Amino acid sequence: MAYRDLSEFIAALEEKGELKRIPFEVDPVLEITEFADRAVKSGGPALLFEKPKGSAIPVFINGFASARKMEIALEVASVEEIAGRIVEILETRMPEGLIGKIKMLPRLAEMGSFFPRTLSQAPCQEIVSGEEFSLFDLPVLQCWPEDAGRFITLPLVFSRNPDTGRRNCGMYRMQIFDGRTAGMHWQTHKQGAEHYRRSRHHGRARMDVAVAIGADPATMYSAILPLPPDLDEMMIAGFLRQSPVEMIRCRSCDLEVPANAEIVLEGYVEVGETRTEGPFGDHTGYYSLAGEYPVFHLTCATHRVRPIYAATIVGPPPMEDFYMGKAVERIFLPLMRLQLPEVRDIAMPAEGVFHNLMLVSIRKSYPGHARKVMHAIWGLGQAMFTKCIVVVDEDVDVQNVREVAWKALNHIDPERDIQFTLGPVDSLDHASRLQDYGSKMGIDATRKWPGEGFTRPWPGEIKMSEEVKRRVDALWKRAGL
Ligand SMILES: Cc1cc2nc3c(=O)[nH]c(=O)nc-3n(C[C@H](O)[C@H](O)[C@H](O)COP(=O)(O)O)c2cc1C
Repeated sequence: MAYRDLSEFIAALEEKGELKRIPFEVDPVLEITEFADRAVKSGGPALLFEKPKGSAIPVFINGFASARKMEIALEVASVEEIAGRIVEILETRMPEGLIGKIKMLPRLAEMGSFFPRTLSQAPCQEIVSGEEFSLFDLPVLQCWPEDAGRFITLPLVFSRNPDTGRRNCGMYRMQIFDGRTAGMHWQTHKQGAEHYRRSRHHGRARMDVAVAIGADPATMYSAILPLPPDLDEMMIAGFLRQSPVEMIRCRSCDLEVPANAEIVLEGYVEVGETRTEGPFGDHTGYYSLAGEYPVFHLTCATHRVRPIYAATIVGPPPMEDFYMGKAVERIFLPLMRLQLPEVRDIAMPAEGVFHNLMLVSIRKSYPGHARKVMHAIWGLGQAMFTKCIVVVDEDVDVQNVREVAWKALNHIDPERDIQFTLGPVDSLDHASRLQDYGSKMGIDATRKWPGEGFTRPWPGEIKMSEEVKRRVDALWKRAGL
């Protein structure tokens, strides 16, 4: 049974020994970060701060901050199960004959049941606040010492494509400027930014934006997924939780939000208005620089009678977002293989903070194959940001970074095997020559072929024979080792 809301998820974590309640006062300014950072780095539990200083609303953090918590969040024994369900759907072919078609019906019905539903009443609207509501009523964190202020770090930001009418939900941090306005940090490549550009193109003065904070975990998680434009995150959330997401119409704007949200901030962004946002201690482990971003204006806040404020912190890896990203890597691999069936596996090690490093193993079939894969990845949605791609042969386990470093470094002639290219880079890249534009590097660390101009012999990998290993197993004991 899918979690009805955030409280049910918190209860499940608690039941499994994965939650710690903090019953005394802790300051959302810096102190909660220090707790959350230590907890994630020591494999500790999710945290529920029952008395954050300055607010009556508890703070929940680190709900996704380990592989185990991701599994509890998505109600699976392993996130590979979700990848398996995707493969099943992708492999579904139109069956032969009437019986086969009838057998398909339950699957089609199951897929139909992922679509969101709209309710007429919702827990997230138990309280509808007026002008008196201030964003400072929320226990919003200041995460790191040099942050420009307090930031909402786990918001589900909803907007609508003015051309297609389709909704988008993305996770974009929001810096509180004052009681009624906040920064809207959608980076230029993201769907919120695209909706904003289209609104400007159509000459609209305003763009409706609604922000949900805290919901069932699959719905929260869906906001970070790198989906193609116009694919509804709420439908994917329905697929993940295997139950439709229930939505409710906002009170003051033309958008819907998850009915089970804890807190909803309804409002708009004025087209053309920007304000300096940041710096913010970011998931690169560095402060992202201040930049100009649109301003969110609050028109109406709604919430539960006793809401919980959901947050995360990012910073020097690994943090909670690493585990969220690792699950994305596993869940999206089958979809990537749809385009690139030669890809065996991919890994994005924590130190690469997602966009800096992707390790890819391939079944190499023709000269130049590794370079074809690099270019395809640079053309694949948000994988375009990947600063460094290392392509290895299929016998290399890319989940084992030491093995990749050992084999890749052995296999390259740097001048020959490194491919540089230029293109869009992650907005958080502080080393690129320009904001959002810079170079990327691919390393072809596959075994080189004569067809690639390599005619020298290629040595075999050193491995002891199984027979000798077995003999020494016995001798080992005899030697008292
Ligand atoms: C904790 C967390 C915070 C994030 N903050 C931002 C942000 O401030 N701005 C941004 O553009 N992307 C941010 N992202 C990444 C986006 O949520 C992600 O790229 C998502 O796929 C964007 O959705 P979209 O493709 O619908 O725009 C964040 C991700 C996580 C996990």
